[in-house]
Amino acid sequence: MKIINFGSVNIDIFFAVEHIVRPGETISARDIERRAGGKGLNQSVALAKNSDEVYHVGNIGSDGEFLADYLGSQGINTDFLRKSDNLTGNALIQVDDAGENCIVLYKGANFDNDKDFIDEVFSYFAKGDILVLQNEINMMDYIIDRAYEKGLKIVLNPSPITEEVKKFDYEKIDLLLVNEHEAKAISGIDDIEENIEYFRKTYPKLKLIITLGSKGSIYISENDLIRQDAYKVEAIDSTGAGDTFTGYFVANFYKGVDVDKCLDLATKASALSVTKKGASGSIPNQEEVINFKKELI
Ligand code: RIB
Repeated sequence: MKIINFGSVNIDIFFAVEHIVRPGETISARDIERRAGGKGLNQSVALAKNSDEVYHVGNIGSDGEFLADYLGSQGINTDFLRKSDNLTGNALIQVDDAGENCIVLYKGANFDNDKDFIDEVFSYFAKGDILVLQNEINMMDYIIDRAYEKGLKIVLNPSPITEEVKKFDYEKIDLLLVNEHEAKAISGIDDIEENIEYFRKTYPKLKLIITLGSKGSIYISENDLIRQDAYKVEAIDSTGAGDTFTGYFVANFYKGVDVDKCLDLATKASALSVTKKGASGSIPNQEEVINFKKELI
């Protein structure tokens, strides 16, 4: 079973700041660092900590060669990582003293997908393979349609939320991972319990995870509803914590690991990731996750 992550690749520029800059204000950063990131790349790294067959599909500019090398160093196949004339996607990230972040994205080469490329990519994969998607690339609808026709199982983390997200064909999605805001944006409903009912009734075959930050997460399917508490850790940088959760959950879930175990591993991995600076660089390996001992909140 191959896991194909068709997703973004970004150069993350981290500014360590006391507080997130306010409108009209100029502040000095304590530190600046350039790292490998992008929701797609981060999720590929988390997937590869749990699987030997991860393919990252996407586009980078000539300024992004180091990202291809980085993906390769993580054991990820980059045969379908194309070189573009555009600049690589960039993320300008402020991280404050409480570990909170705010991000400005430049989409760059992440929006260079076209039909020929997408068709070529799917000609190499087969029914039963897993496709993982986020919402930082173009042609999402076309990618979902082609993968569905081919019989791939589609996992969608529709982040960051945009207007397009509301129009995706969720009938074609096998597993949807959303946070509270994304769930509300898709359903138009505020209350989380009502959201659960909405998704169950509207998309009975969909497996759904709603992550709730310090309140943990919930797995919902036709027959199951499993709640997972969060773990208590000291937050240094929350960038990429959601991507870590997604990669860990998805790789273990499609291996056939029990859902409650998948949730626990994903929650531990994302908790560990917030204790370190950066996005992809803060994703723990399996051994660290298994040895993680902290209290639940
Ligand atoms: O989810 C974290 C990621 O979001 C960062 O790595 C950044 O590139 C943005 O895409």
